[in-house]
Formats: sequence, structure tokens, C-alpha cells
Amino acid sequence: MRTPDTLTLELCNTDRAPRLSATSDFRNAVLNGLNQTPKRIPCRYLYDSPGSDLFDQICTLPEYYPTRTEKEILRKNAAQIGAMIGKGARVIELGAGSGGKVDRLMDALPAPSSYLCIDISPEPLERTARAMRQRYPEIDVASLCADFLEAVALPEQPSDVDVCFFPGSTIGNFERPEATDFLRRCRSLLKPNSLMLIGVDLKKPVPLLEKAYDDAAGVTARFSLNVLARTNRELDANFDLAQFRHRARYVSEPGYVEITLVSQADQSVTVAGKVFDFDRNEPIHIENSHKYTCDEFISLARNAGYQSLGVWSDDCDLFSIHLLRAQP
Ligand code: TRP
Repeated sequence: MRTPDTLTLELCNTDRAPRLSATSDFRNAVLNGLNQTPKRIPCRYLYDSPGSDLFDQICTLPEYYPTRTEKEILRKNAAQIGAMIGKGARVIELGAGSGGKVDRLMDALPAPSSYLCIDISPEPLERTARAMRQRYPEIDVASLCADFLEAVALPEQPSDVDVCFFPGSTIGNFERPEATDFLRRCRSLLKPNSLMLIGVDLKKPVPLLEKAYDDAAGVTARFSLNVLARTNRELDANFDLAQFRHRARYVSEPGYVEITLVSQADQSVTVAGKVFDFDRNEPIHIENSHKYTCDEFISLARNAGYQSLGVWSDDCDLFSIHLLRAQP
């Protein structure tokens, strides 16, 4: 499985330079990010092949509740959600690779008309389209290799209503104003009265949140440190992984888990011929994962021009799924 983070972070990338090759994108992003204060590496680069495997492992960890909880909420409530969406829907999935979630939705919809997957990476996109064609031979399946925010025209497909499916709390990887912006842009691309079905991680006691991003077995630490290993592999760098420590810390205002790699010593690292100095305890910022109460998210969505039609969560209030309607 691959996560929609690749998509998200592409969406975060507001400078609209022409696309270069994958390697020079990565090189530019790392060199640019390490020149900033605080230093940063954009989290979309976490998902190379070893990173994607590690992320699959994260999704099965006892501490990492989001994946299984979101699936469980979908399983329990798909019939009701499907009935609210109604007949003839086109499902537009943002980001390939959340199989096991979109199936639950598709299976619960009364006579869905079509499915469209949008992702910036061609391989997971094609894999998803192939799997969906096989599973739903009677439905029109299309894929669009694009940054959703740049996709000025969606392909024509039959539908009574469009439902944009954005699972995994990927919306949480946007800063709050960017999340509003993102929802606004979706609204401007979709037909009036289109729906958004969106997974949103909830605020909860801090130890639960911090453990979800720093598990006892150390898988999450390996996952985030892999971005330094990737930099060594692909950009001729010499990060000593033992000299950086994974840190997940909850910032209560406005509410996000901040993930950083903290330098354990004063040290210099060379990346693609450029030298970067790190102070002891200096962080490299990797990702923020924003958490919302249901009311906070409803008011953010309202701000972006949506009406809340329903919210579902699990018995422990760990995770939520929102159904929103884009106001004309
Ligand atoms: N963006 C996801 C989340 O917020 C993925 C994720 C889980 C992640 N653990 C991580 C990203 C650790 C970076 C580091 O849940």
C-alpha cells in the first residue's frame, strides 16, 4: 500500500515550477529544505520503496490506531453513508492506494456510476485503476495523473453526484489555513452540491498521540530515519543515522503532532557536494499531523464553503469520517 501523502505534499508545494525528473526534484527539495531555518525535508519523500514498506508496517502497529479505526468506522457505517450519498455517484479518490477503504464505500453505494482516481505518481495510480476495473467491471473506471489542485478539468464520466473521497487524515498534513484552502479549491473544481467524504484524526490524550508516532518497536523511527538513508543512497550524502533521533511531540495549540529528526551532536553532513552544519539538538522538520475535534473540523469546512451532512466516529473517539456538501 502507498499512502496519499505523496499526493498531499505535492499539494502543499505552492511554487509551481515546471516538473523536473524525480531525482532532481528530491535533490532540490533536500538542498532547499536544509538551507532553511529550521531545516526541513518535505514528508512526501518518506515514501520511496523501503519507506512505503515501513509505512505498511506502521499501519499494523498496535499504537497506530488511524488505519484500522478508519476502516472500522467505514465498515460499521458504510450502509448509512451510502444511502445518504444515493444512486449514480461518481467516486473521486484523492491519492491511490487506500484499497480496503474505497472498496467499503463502493460496495455500500447504490448503483455507483463511475470511479476516478487522481494521483501524481503513475505506478500506484495504474495499479489502483487496474484493481478497480477488475473488481467493478460494470463501472466506468478512469485515472488521472495530476496534482489535484492543478487538475483544471476532470474527465467526463456519467454521474448524478460526485463524491470526493479523501481518507487517511491526509488533510491533517496541511497546516490549518492550507487545509481550508485545499477544501476551497476542491469545491471550485467540483460540480455544485458535490460531496466530500473525508477522514480526520481526532484530538485525544497526548500519550496516545505521541505513541502512535513513536512506537515501542521503533518502526516509526526507522520510517522517518529512512529519509536520511534515502538521501545517502540517492544524493551522495553522508548522514550518520545513529547521530539523529526520531522525535514525535504534540503541540497543543492549535493541535498537531510534530515529527522531527534531532541531531545528537554538533556535526557536518555533506549532501550532493554541499556541506550542512547541525548543532546538537537541532531538529530537521519532517511533518506535522494536525488533529481536530469534530466541531473544529466542521467549522473549518464551513469556512471553506461546505455544509456538514454527518460525522461518524468509533466508540473511543479516536478517528472521524465527515460527509460534507459543497455549497453552490
Ligand atoms: N501522515 C500520516 C499520519 O499523520 C503518516 C505517518 C504516520 C507519518 N507516522 C508517521 C509521517 C511518522 C511521518 C512520520 O498519520
